[in-house]
Amino acid sequence: MFKSKLNEITPYTPGRSIESIKKDYGLTDIIKLASNENPLGPAVDFATVSNNIELYPDYTTHPFIGELSKHLNVTNQQLILGNGSDEILQIIALALISPGDEILSSSCTFSEYKFVAQITDATYVEAAMENHTYNVNNLINAMTPKTKIIFIANPNNPTGTMLTHTDIEQLMAATSPDTLVVLDEAYAEYVTNPTYPKSIELIDKYPNLLVTRTFSKIYGLAALRIGYGMAQAHIIEGLQKVRQPFNVNGLALDCALKALQNQSFVKQSIQTNNEGKAFLSNELNTIDCIIPPSEGNFLYVEFKDIDGIQLCENLLERGIIIRSMKSFGQNNAIRVTISTLEQNQRFIKELHECLKKQS
Ligand SMILES: Cc1ncc(COP(=O)(O)O)c(C=O)c1O
Repeated sequence: MFKSKLNEITPYTPGRSIESIKKDYGLTDIIKLASNENPLGPAVDFATVSNNIELYPDYTTHPFIGELSKHLNVTNQQLILGNGSDEILQIIALALISPGDEILSSSCTFSEYKFVAQITDATYVEAAMENHTYNVNNLINAMTPKTKIIFIANPNNPTGTMLTHTDIEQLMAATSPDTLVVLDEAYAEYVTNPTYPKSIELIDKYPNLLVTRTFSKIYGLAALRIGYGMAQAHIIEGLQKVRQPFNVNGLALDCALKALQNQSFVKQSIQTNNEGKAFLSNELNTIDCIIPPSEGNFLYVEFKDIDGIQLCENLLERGIIIRSMKSFGQNNAIRVTISTLEQNQRFIKELHECLKKQS
């Protein structure tokens, strides 16, 4: 009954929830550092949001779209909203892919790119990373006349590394105008490196470039599912044709509007992340491990001789949920979300206990 392609798909396994760990391990005090969520909570007080949930939500007339376009300095016609930025990635593939087309990305990157290739009958091609980072030359060498979409997570999940403005210019110069380059900037607001791409400038320059961002991370609205894509208007017009009419729910629109107006929360989140990153990096550097420079709200930690899967299990027993990198073929690596000082300290303390046990 089902398409044979579906045999290749392993359903996505989300990070373990706090509730499931409470139930399975009989613990009460649990911290989740597995899904790169905002440790400060949401940028909006949900109780202050009123919504007519009996009405269908039309985002094209909701004040949020106007506020967002003003915030980004683009026009409404340059924006498409999605049920999370995940949905935008899927919309892109639905609109562009015919069977046999290729989607190009990199090894050790966000799993959604391969997933959208599989459900749209595209061939998924992975260019090798170098030093835990997307490599522009490898991407260029992997392009073929069939390449329809190039997905780039920037910063990359799970390694945290980024390509610069110059890297993206180099890539765009080598890309066919019939190929859409998608810069997935889910963690853009956390980036401190000044060479990070100026994406709005790039969009103006390249008609085959699209940038996605999300309200799930810095704005703390992961459960509401709202993200967006921005590009030149002709690209957005094409994508709008395959979007479900009411794909973004009304509560998400109302909350995202208030969240966007709360830029002091964004500043506070960035500061907490920078402090947490410095603390965790210092502490982890006392252990034999490699940590690629992260521009996101998480660290990728590759150990020399430590079994990362076992380590995640041992941390779970102590009420700490982090992510094993087994699904990327890295059994000796983990990814941990950067959190508040208190949670970071607890993670480090429990990590040392687990490492003693495993050595
Ligand atoms: C690189 C990257 N892109 C996109 C997403 C999806 O975000 P959203 O919650 O907006 O669907 C994530 C979520 O973890 C991510 O890491």
